[in-house]
Amino acid sequence: MKCTVCRGPAVIDVRRHNANFCAEHFAKHCREQVGRAIHQFDMVHPGERVLVAVSGGKDSLALWDILLDLGYHADGFYIGLGIGEYSDESGSYARAFAERRGATLVEADLPGDFGFDVPTGSLAARRAPCSACGLSKRHLFDRAAIDGGYDVVATGHNLDDEAAVLFGNVLRWSTDYLGRQHPVLPEGHGFPRKVKPLVRLGEREMAAYCVIRGIDYIVEECPMAAGNRHLGYKEVLNEVEAQSPGTKNAFYFGFLERASHLFTPEAEAEQLELRPCERCGAPTPNDVCAFCMLVERAARR
Ligand code: AMP
Ligand code: FES
Ligand code: ZN
Ligand code: ZN
Repeated sequence: MKCTVCRGPAVIDVRRHNANFCAEHFAKHCREQVGRAIHQFDMVHPGERVLVAVSGGKDSLALWDILLDLGYHADGFYIGLGIGEYSDESGSYARAFAERRGATLVEADLPGDFGFDVPTGSLAARRAPCSACGLSKRHLFDRAAIDGGYDVVATGHNLDDEAAVLFGNVLRWSTDYLGRQHPVLPEGHGFPRKVKPLVRLGEREMAAYCVIRGIDYIVEECPMAAGNRHLGYKEVLNEVEAQSPGTKNAFYFGFLERASHLFTPEAEAEQLELRPCERCGAPTPNDVCAFCMLVERAARR
């Protein structure tokens, strides 16, 4: 197997692109794909400050690495979620990366700052752990960006993640979610801009990128996510992709090009109903936002 670019020995094949790469050209391919996504969707403008949400996993650390290499002013943001050893370990990977690259890591801690962890929050709110966790993360991303004066929050969602979420939303025709499933959510109504610069890269490519670049990351999946729907959708899509490479890409980018605009009016109408939460000021359709409700329920437990 030879590198498509230099004809030297290749270390990875990317069937979707019908290409093989040596280590050097693979890292370049990843940087180019991120650069293209940023330009294609107008994600970050020159001089803006980016807050990269890092979980300690491969995707978000690779994203941070690439943004720094592309010359963006990118600080990391790590949230301790209180999921036992998994959280302790993921935090140490995020800190080690920051130290190695001489980059700034901002931190928040759910138990330390708000008095509850994800397992407790999930029981208190009678929500699935990933739902309580996702709600808390989104709230803390927005808050950290606004408090820190960042222009944009970047997350490590990759093509596999987005295709799986899209698949789930289409299976249930969750038109409100479909209206918000875009790699860029503009700032406004009290929210910072949110972007997903890895949408042109898959999970396997991000793992390979970390190995090639010597980035240590937490390999274990979150223990609370085991067996959830989302992982099932990923498996199904992987089977389809194995039979016809490029399907995931066509599914997701076809949606963005041809269908996503059909659902945005509904999502935009919902945004108009938002007002500041009485307790924390975050945008919410109710008096008190879902995160403050979660904090209150968890405290009662
Ligand atoms: P997940 O919801 O676990 O699939 O993660 C999606 C994205 O959210 C990751 O790529 C990160 O950008 C971000 N993220 C997940 N967990 C954390 C965390 N503990 N702290 C900061 N960002 C996170
Ligand atoms: Fe949130 Fe696992 S990381 S439930
Ligand atoms: Zn090469
Ligand atoms: Zn609130």
